[in-house]
Formats: sequence, structure tokens, C-alpha cells
Amino acid sequence: MSPFRLTRTLPEDTTDAALRADVHEGLTGSPKTLPPKWFYDARGSELFEEITGLPEYYPTRAEREILRARAGEIAEASGARTLVELGSGSSEKTRYLIDVLTGLHTYVPVDVSQSALTQAGQALAAERPGLEVHALIADFTARLTLPGTPGPRLVAFLGGTIGNLLPAERAAFLASVRALLAPGDALLLGTDLVKDERVLVRAYDDAAGVTAAFNKNVLHVINRELGADFDPDAFAHVALWDARHEWIEMRLRSLTAQTVKIPALELAVDFAADEELRTEVSAKFRQEGVREELSAAGLELTRWWTDEEGRFALSLSVAR
Ligand code: SAH
Ligand code: AVI
Repeated sequence: MSPFRLTRTLPEDTTDAALRADVHEGLTGSPKTLPPKWFYDARGSELFEEITGLPEYYPTRAEREILRARAGEIAEASGARTLVELGSGSSEKTRYLIDVLTGLHTYVPVDVSQSALTQAGQALAAERPGLEVHALIADFTARLTLPGTPGPRLVAFLGGTIGNLLPAERAAFLASVRALLAPGDALLLGTDLVKDERVLVRAYDDAAGVTAAFNKNVLHVINRELGADFDPDAFAHVALWDARHEWIEMRLRSLTAQTVKIPALELAVDFAADEELRTEVSAKFRQEGVREELSAAGLELTRWWTDEEGRFALSLSVAR
């Protein structure tokens, strides 16, 4: 069995303070919003894994298809000795890369979900003798301090999770990723692509209601962590396509006029009947837009692969 280390880069109370600040700011603003990172407690991570297997949710299957076909090319182009994965979740697709990165010394999965990191990290350390697994509990939108492991470094950001950041957040995020790389190091980025609106909306409003449960999980998190009295049944799951921004928006629509108490914030939040709370955007991309955003951060897009149906793209870019 290889070494498995788990490091929390932020103390527990920092996470707590961040949740309080986000909930206060998001629920006192207009329109009301919450950042998507708070979906992912242990239950939220399980629900996300369930989503990845739904017939309507194509991104995971499409990205897996690309990784299966292209892992060898990616490994050859990067020659990575350290693989850092941001928002690694179950690390399930990453195995295709780890299998072919012959000189790989350390795998650094980074996630806010301790349960996902521990499960995936321990399994990988057990399966891959000789590979060091150094998991980091951290927010990838904050400044990251990575362990001093050998280069070249490949940073992977899979699943289309970059689409869950707003445009200004994406620009800041890509600049911070560039700061983690030495010239010649690379970023492997998964981006979901613009497509037929019906296919997109179905992927975020599945027939079995798993995405609805995932969306409402943020209310359970706030109830548990901040003593709030949200009734998740008093909200409806909404998924809609915003054609102007080219993103899917997930919202929770208040079914009645209601007041929610959040004792830890000494706050009472009024919802009008039909008022909507935005819980996530999931931006969809085009190749030129991705190239431009990477370039603005000092990253040069060198490879672009899609699945057979052209639904999802993986790009490799190199730090200039
Ligand atoms: N990469 C995996 C998981 C995608 S789900 C895949 O492609 O299937 C998004 C993952 O990012 C979750 O595991 C979630 O816990 C993590 N995440 C979301 N926001 C985060 C943040 N700000 N910092 C670190 N991890 C985050
Ligand atoms: C993690 N992220 C890329 C997912 C997405 O598709 O935006 C989260 C998700 N939200 C609803 N379903 C899945």
C-alpha cells in the first residue's frame, strides 16, 4: 500500500466562517444566491455520484470516453511526475490518466468534500503501490499551497466544474492555476459544450429527481450547520437555460410566502411566493471562448479533443 496523507489547509472554523459569510451575503442580496460549493457534504457528494450515472446526465460519460481514448496522448505531452486534481470528487475518471502516467510520483487530489477525498484517496493509495497520494481539503478558488513534489506538474480540472464559476471568478481562478505552474507545465481542462437546449435542461432536471435532491441538499447543509429551519419540501427545483450567458441555472423556487430563520446568523429571511434562489450556474462553452479565457491567464491551448458526439471537450494548455 502506498502512503496516503490528508491535509486540511484551512482550519474547520474557517470553513464555518466562510459558510456563514456566504449564506448571509447570498440570502440578504437581491436576487438571492448561494455558491454551489456548499452542495458537497457527504450526502451531496453521494448525490453527485448518482447524477453521473443518470441516463440524462451525459457529461461524465462523454468525458470518460475522451479520457479513455486520449490518456496516452495526454501522458506523453505532459510527462507529469505530479498530478494535481482540483475538485477531484471520486477521482473515478482520473484513473485512466494515472494508469498511463508512467513517471508519476505524487497524486494531489484537492476537494472541499472530506468524505469524497478520503474514500477516493485511500482506494487509490491501496491500488497503486509506489504512488504517493497527498489529498488536500481546500477551496480551489482560494490561494492553494501545494506540497513540494517533483515536476513536471499537470493540473487536471475535470467534469466541467469550471462552468460552475461565474465569468469573473473563472478569470481569477485561471490566473491562480497559472501561478501554480512553471513554464511548460500543463492544465487539462474539461468543459461541457453549448448544445440543444432540451438536452441541456433534461441533464439538470432528470426524471428520477436526483438533481432536485442534490439542489435541495444545500438547504439541509444550512439547516444542520447554522440551525436554520428551511423546509426543503416548500421549494421546487428549477433548471433553465440562459441563452444570453450560455449557462444552465439551477434555482430553488419558494412555493409559498415564507420566513426562514437562521439562528447562527440571527437572521430571518423572507421569501415571496414564487421567489427564486439561484444555487448554481453551469456554463457551457465553445472552443474559441475557452482558448481566449486560457490565453488571458497566460495559458496556451495546444490540444482540443471532443467525444464522438461533440458534447464535451477536454483541452490541454501549457503555461507560457
Ligand atoms: N471531478 C469530478 C467531480 C466533479 S463534482 C468529476 O468530474 O466527476 C465537483 C467537485 O468539486 C465535488 O467533489 C466538490 O466537492 C468539489 N468542489 C466544488 N467546489 C469546490 C471548491 N470551491 N473547492 C474545492 N472543491 C470544490
Ligand atoms: C460539478 N458540476 C460540473 C456539475 C454540473 O454539471 O454543473 C454539478 C451538477 N449540478 C447539477 N447536476 C450536476
